[in-house]
Amino acid sequence: MDRALEISLLQELKGLKENGLFFLDDNVQSSPVERYLCADRFERERSRIFRRLPIIAAHAGELPESGSFLTRQFGGLPVLLTRDRDGAVNAFVNVCRHRGARLVGEDRGCKHSFSCPYHAWTWNSSGALRGVPHEKPGFPDLDREAFALRRLPAVERFGLVWVVADPDGTPDFDAFLDPIAGDLAWAGLDMLGIAASDTFTLAANWKLLVEGGLEAYHFKVTHKDTIGPHFPDNLSSYEMLGSHIRSVLPRTSIAYLNAGDAEGWSIRDHANVLYSVFPANQFLLMQDHVAWVRLHPHSSGHTEVQITTLAPAAEITESRSEHWQRNHKITSLTLAEDFAVNEAVQAGLESGANTVLTFGRYEGALHRFNEEVKKFLA
Ligand code: FES
Ligand SMILES: [Fe+2]
Repeated sequence: MDRALEISLLQELKGLKENGLFFLDDNVQSSPVERYLCADRFERERSRIFRRLPIIAAHAGELPESGSFLTRQFGGLPVLLTRDRDGAVNAFVNVCRHRGARLVGEDRGCKHSFSCPYHAWTWNSSGALRGVPHEKPGFPDLDREAFALRRLPAVERFGLVWVVADPDGTPDFDAFLDPIAGDLAWAGLDMLGIAASDTFTLAANWKLLVEGGLEAYHFKVTHKDTIGPHFPDNLSSYEMLGSHIRSVLPRTSIAYLNAGDAEGWSIRDHANVLYSVFPANQFLLMQDHVAWVRLHPHSSGHTEVQITTLAPAAEITESRSEHWQRNHKITSLTLAEDFAVNEAVQAGLESGANTVLTFGRYEGALHRFNEEVKKFLA
């Protein structure tokens, strides 16, 4: 994002506020309830979105040094991420190539050698098979290259590790990322580190959780006791960046900006900028830190959520620890308000009371997000 765009995004919202207007889509839309309940649809989302598109697998700071590794499930696929001796990030299916045991059981750690707990076949951090007990008599002429770990397409960009959870995938990372590349570079995520993180599971469809971040219509109601007072009522804007979305959520200080000083305006001083990276990651850029929400759908009605506070790496120090913990707690408390409502909505959908959700003209980004989902399912 360049300076001119920062200024024009603020000007647009300031103008709406001054004239008592809102950022509106053309039409009211509806979203069928089956989208959030149907197990078949969930399986299609998993295979055509979560197993086919680039997914943010980690922040680079979660693989900080040569030998760092972590394990996770993406789209139901067990994945091992490593940083090898050359410093490059690798992604593998975390399954032994001998008889299929789970290769690495730990969540994270630091080593270059991964030995299967069943018969101790051993691979290095580049995925090459390095050891087979009693190899010669038992596996004569073993082609070690054919038994390398199954590699997944992976790249490290903008301080993030992007993986496609399909060993046969041929993703076009550039096509997927180009529309948001300028913004992600501007966000400077590569200069940040992990200040705090929590993981838990919610009884809600993953799309409800994404949708909850895409409008400011609820701020003064759901968040009346937390962040609500810091935001004008029902004011935000959005723009599609390919399949991704940039939302701008102005703070009350926007009213006091002096138009004559526009050249000096900085968007993060007067608004939160939210990047919804398709399908299921949201980065909320605040003044001095970023709240990152990652969703890992488990079923149509259950989603694992990871909330991470990213802060300037140089400022993640003992003396600043309390500051980041406080910010992380504010984020967590605010999101807990959203998540309580999201779980209640899921239960409401399951009750059969409604056949559709209704998206008003303030909630256009929710419709556009669902259109992207539909596009990949088609
Ligand atoms: S299953 Fe892994 S070494 Fe046998
Ligand atoms: Fe909210």
